[in-house]
Amino acid sequence: MLRACFLTTVLSGVAQSASLYTDPNDVPTKEYDFIVVGAGTAGNVIATRLTEDPTKRVLVIEAGIDDTDVLPIHVPFLGLNNEGSIVDWNFTTVPQKELNNRTLSVPRGFVLGGSSSISKSHSSWKRNGRNELDYSKDLMIWTRGSRDLWDHYAKVSTLVPSTSYPDIPPPPPNNPTLSNGNGPVQVTRANFPNELDDKVINGSMILQQEIPHSRFKYTVDMNTGNSIGFGYTQETTGHGERSSSATAYLHPALNSNRSNLDVLIQTRAMRLLQSKNSASNSSSVPHFNRVEVAQSVDGPRFKFRARKEIILSSGAIGTPQLLLLSGVGPKHELKQLGIDVVVDKPAVGKNLRDHPLLSTIYNVNSNQTFDDITRNPALQQQLLEQWQNNRTGLFANTPASVLGFMRLPKDQLNGVKDPASGPHAPHLEMVFVDGFLPLFQPLPETGHFIAVLNSIVAPKSAGSLTLASASGGTFTHPLIDYNIYGNSFDIQAMLQAINDTETFLSTPPWTQDDFIISVFGRNSTSIGTEAEKIAFMRDNTITLFHPVGTARMGSKQGDVTNSRLLVRGVKGVRIVDASVFPTIPECHPQAVVYTLAERAADIIQEDHGML
Ligand SMILES: Cc1cc2nc3c(=O)[nH]c(=O)nc-3n(C[C@H](O)[C@H](O)[C@H](O)COP(=O)(O)OP(=O)(O)OC[C@H]3O[C@@H](n4cnc5c(N)ncnc54)[C@H](O)[C@@H]3O)c2cc1C
Ligand SMILES: *[C@@H]1O[C@H](CO)[C@@H](O)[C@H](O)[C@H]1NC(C)=O
Ligand SMILES: *[C@@H]1O[C@H](CO)[C@@H](O)[C@H](O)[C@H]1NC(C)=O
Ligand SMILES: *[C@@H]1O[C@H](CO)[C@@H](O)[C@H](O)[C@H]1NC(C)=O
Ligand SMILES: *[C@@H]1O[C@H](CO)[C@@H](O)[C@H](O)[C@H]1NC(C)=O
Ligand SMILES: *[C@@H]1O[C@H](CO)[C@@H](O)[C@H](O)[C@H]1NC(C)=O
Ligand SMILES: *[C@@H]1O[C@H](CO)[C@@H](O)[C@H](O)[C@H]1NC(C)=O
Ligand SMILES: *[C@@H]1O[C@H](CO)[C@@H](O)[C@H](O)[C@H]1NC(C)=O
Ligand SMILES: *[C@@H]1O[C@H](CO)[C@@H](O)[C@H](O)[C@H]1NC(C)=O
Ligand SMILES: *[C@@H]1O[C@H](CO)[C@@H](O)[C@H](O)[C@H]1NC(C)=O
Repeated sequence: MLRACFLTTVLSGVAQSASLYTDPNDVPTKEYDFIVVGAGTAGNVIATRLTEDPTKRVLVIEAGIDDTDVLPIHVPFLGLNNEGSIVDWNFTTVPQKELNNRTLSVPRGFVLGGSSSISKSHSSWKRNGRNELDYSKDLMIWTRGSRDLWDHYAKVSTLVPSTSYPDIPPPPPNNPTLSNGNGPVQVTRANFPNELDDKVINGSMILQQEIPHSRFKYTVDMNTGNSIGFGYTQETTGHGERSSSATAYLHPALNSNRSNLDVLIQTRAMRLLQSKNSASNSSSVPHFNRVEVAQSVDGPRFKFRARKEIILSSGAIGTPQLLLLSGVGPKHELKQLGIDVVVDKPAVGKNLRDHPLLSTIYNVNSNQTFDDITRNPALQQQLLEQWQNNRTGLFANTPASVLGFMRLPKDQLNGVKDPASGPHAPHLEMVFVDGFLPLFQPLPETGHFIAVLNSIVAPKSAGSLTLASASGGTFTHPLIDYNIYGNSFDIQAMLQAINDTETFLSTPPWTQDDFIISVFGRNSTSIGTEAEKIAFMRDNTITLFHPVGTARMGSKQGDVTNSRLLVRGVKGVRIVDASVFPTIPECHPQAVVYTLAERAADIIQEDHGML
């Protein structure tokens, strides 16, 4: 990132600093070298890296708001207390067949930093007229994925981890974190201890001693290329505050007077438009060079032109939606909606994947869980004041510091293609939260609880995103169908995860002092028979908010982008965000998105002779 130093140079004679605009009329020019759609995780990396070259002018268009004054974004422990929130797109899925037709919320950041900025409560439980404190949803977990994941991506394309990988500052003295780097995203281990940390680590060490080749092994660092094991994870916080692509990339660029960077917020891209020549010449390759934007569904439309290219970084929901609205997608779907087909691309919107997540709550014998804080606004205020005072205390921490990644047992993989990228990539994850998660019920008036989150990080089920209608553009929510448990392999995998949790919680750290009392609402520490477990899964599974894959990259003609992330069959459009992942990363994907974006910035600079 050293090149960033040159950027105070003022170009073209006019001393003008980089600016954040809220009105398209105020944007100083209609023509840029690059237009980036989406100031999210990937988009901010691209915008910041491309404006390192002072001769290139970049416009970023972001639908959401500025993150600067949104307090719950910056306090690691806090999810938003409001039902829905001003920084969320508020998408939901269509009824999920295998989940008794329940719909699931699909939170997506509607703010600078995109989904790297948000914590969304999807519980709407209120007690005594106030909202529950909800610390539960965004764990800011930083996991890089296994070396097998990167090898697998490299096989379908030439993508490799970038040399300027955003990375990890020195660990706190008594926490020997090993995987270090020197990028802009701040990553730490836990900022504050909780009572589950030791129980998880000791539990895995005990099983590792007792069982040869234990699937519950301990790992001192899950970010070295082999992801398997239980231990401390890393989180995207620094100095007690969340580190997002807005705080790590975009704001520093905006604050350093880059005259070649303009950011337009509260404005949605509605569709891409072809260059005039290309639109009138049916024998040439369609060339998209303009972005149409609007601030409200009926408001005026504005157009901005990209001299070099348009980079879509609108995320796994926003990017396929924009492609479809621009006539790039499955021909029959577009025709049905009355959208002119520019290129027939059946893969757009398909291959939608997310990690299924099952939260099991246990009654526990402890007075240290977060529940008493959740019930006590005065205590919350005190913790917030401490955080505001010097960024310490419980609120400086994310709600979960330890987790485990596991492989499925070999016999479950007999005769099926392993959905994980390779032997260093996990199938299952267990996360431990020291308090009640109000996903389906409000926190009871009394009692203490923990939540164990089981997730399938290498699921086989895939769903799709389609448009609900052509009208309203990006103001109309698309139809999102994850098809959770559509492949029965995932049901077996989750059954195994439930069994593994029962095995893990029967080790001494969890049984001593009768710590685990029972599964919440039941009389036993087990969910019950296999049939009861499956019923429990159908009633309680949500997702981990990691949608990917809807504009997949690959070497085949049918894939949406090629290995340089250019959309096949058109000119002028590249995609840089989680929609290009051909398979779902077997980890929390933000590190993978940052890495993709850093690598993509190198590729774009190469392609335009900017190095
Ligand atoms: C609640 C939640 C918790 C999460 N927790 C973790 C975690 O602990 N660890 C982890 O690794 N990952 C986590 N993730 C996942 C991770 O945040 C995402 O995978 C990653 O941020 C995706 O990056 P992206 O650049 O693809 O999209 P985003 O970061 O979502 O960026 C897309 C941007 O495009 C904008 N946009 C979309 N459409 C338009 C349009 N038409 N016009 C203009 N702008 C548009 C959006 O507003 C947004 O700012 C979480 C996600 C959520 C939602
Ligand atoms: C999401 O819902 C909240 C609460 O209703 C609302 O304030 C916010 O504006 C919604 N987000 C969008 C993008 O409409
Ligand atoms: C889910 O909805 C479909 C379509 O309406 C219906 O056929 C099916 O029986 C429903 N399933 C359940 C479990 O209610
Ligand atoms: C940006 O410009 C302003 C006004 O010209 C100046 O005060 C400030 O020091 C500059 N900041 C940087 C980081 O160069
Ligand atoms: C149309 O495009 C084709 C292929 O790019 C080109 O050969 C031809 O000259 C173009 N025709 C016009 C009228 O621009
Ligand atoms: C929790 O607090 C109650 C009331 O003070 C006390 O009776 C109980 O023993 C405590 N339990 C634990 C596990 O410390
Ligand atoms: C931070 O502030 C709290 C009071 O808000 C105080 O108790 C604590 O000692 C302070 N910690 C540091 C490291 O200054
Ligand atoms: C889970 O455990 C039960 C009871 O011990 C066993 O019958 C079942 O086969 C196990 N299921 C899986 C998927 O491991
Ligand atoms: C974990 O193990 C350490 C070292 O043996 C021990 O000091 C500690 O009490 C154990 N904690 C739990 C919760 O088991
Ligand atoms: C738990 O056990 C009690 C007493 O045996 C019984 O009355 C109650 O119905 C049981 N509850 C559940 C949820 O099984």
